[in-house]
Amino acid sequence: MRSQVVIIGAGPAGLMLGRLLELAGVDAVILERKSADYVLGRIRAGVLEQGTIALMDRAQAGQRMHAEGLVHQGVELSFDGDSQRIDFAALIDRHVMVYGQTEVTADLMKARQGRTLYEAEDVELHDLAGKPFVTFRQNGVTQRIDCDFIAGCDGFHGVARQSVPASALTTFERVYPFGWLGVLVDQPPVADELIYAHHERGFALCSQRSHTRSRYYVQVPTDEKVENWSDDRFWDELRLRLNPATAEALKTGVSIEKSIAPLRSFVAEPLRFGKLFLAGDAAHIVPPTGAKGLNLAMSDVAVLADALIEHCVEKSSAGIDAYSAKVLARIWKAERFSWWMTSLLHTFPDTGSFGRRIQRAEFDYLSGSLAAQQSLAENYTGLPD
Ligand code: APR
Ligand code: PHB
Repeated sequence: MRSQVVIIGAGPAGLMLGRLLELAGVDAVILERKSADYVLGRIRAGVLEQGTIALMDRAQAGQRMHAEGLVHQGVELSFDGDSQRIDFAALIDRHVMVYGQTEVTADLMKARQGRTLYEAEDVELHDLAGKPFVTFRQNGVTQRIDCDFIAGCDGFHGVARQSVPASALTTFERVYPFGWLGVLVDQPPVADELIYAHHERGFALCSQRSHTRSRYYVQVPTDEKVENWSDDRFWDELRLRLNPATAEALKTGVSIEKSIAPLRSFVAEPLRFGKLFLAGDAAHIVPPTGAKGLNLAMSDVAVLADALIEHCVEKSSAGIDAYSAKVLARIWKAERFSWWMTSLLHTFPDTGSFGRRIQRAEFDYLSGSLAAQQSLAENYTGLPD
């Protein structure tokens, strides 16, 4: 088999890249380790920046998103029961859209016309500095695809980044001493907008997927086990971390998904090795506090698609040569913001009384300063390219 581009991974990054390339007439095969049903069953993030919304439109996959997605003009931050709304619309005339990553994935899958090979096992990347090719097994048969370029969109644990010699890659990492326990429930959200809450018992987030489906999180220690959390225990803990009026209004129910995700900041540099490009979670991880993971993956592949199209159609290498530096500049700004929001809103084992006062002062500054609110709004809704 031959293809101009082989994409590893059919998450949102791989599917979006494949779609943008096919619309420009560039041939790309996607290799995905899991089944399509498995990929569609994963519950992930749910906030789209305007750049991501525009990219869904460019991919001609935005119709359902516009019909079902909820435009949010702001978010609420709460600190030990005190609340501050960050009004994106008034501060910077921007908004975000609440629409699940699961739905984004489904829409991109549906729009795709090119080949996606699911349940592709033992994917291996070869001759990245020369004439690249990829081997894999499907239904017990080993296959080979020769290509011009490979896009590693296979997430943090994927094979693409691991195929780069360690000496050619520098990595930067911070692992946080806690995770998020998340619950999905078919109940109306407790508030119209998202609530990010700091409490001395730990962080909590009230999010949503629709007018009838809600997503809630509480900070838990890294080694916590999901089996230790009955629905009742989860709702009790969440209520304790919200202000009393919100806790009172909370509509609880039987969870339809419950899982714990660790929090990590990670960046690999550079994001090109020979004919291989890394994008999305394969290249970087942010803690979910700033809602940046999916959006960053989307902005990576928008730049990568343009670069590959430029090379394949106009025969210019300018875009692919600039890819790594260009996306890393944006990635580090999103890393900074995600780290900052995480630091403000969580309790850390080593925060101490001084650290708690600093967190409170940060919240008070935010509450009293339009400049500080504008900065949060600008970062949350997505920085310009
Ligand atoms: N071979 C083939 N496919 C693989 C391999 C492999 N060795 N390893 C992983 N994959 C697949 C995974 O099964 C998954 O479907 O790659 C895909 C990667 O998708 P995601 O993890 O969703 O990563 P990405 O597309 O970069 O999406 C960005 O945004 O909200 C955040 O972290 C969240 O998933 C999200 C991300
Ligand atoms: C979610 O709805 O899953 C969600 C929303 C906002 C975040 C993180 C997760 O910052």
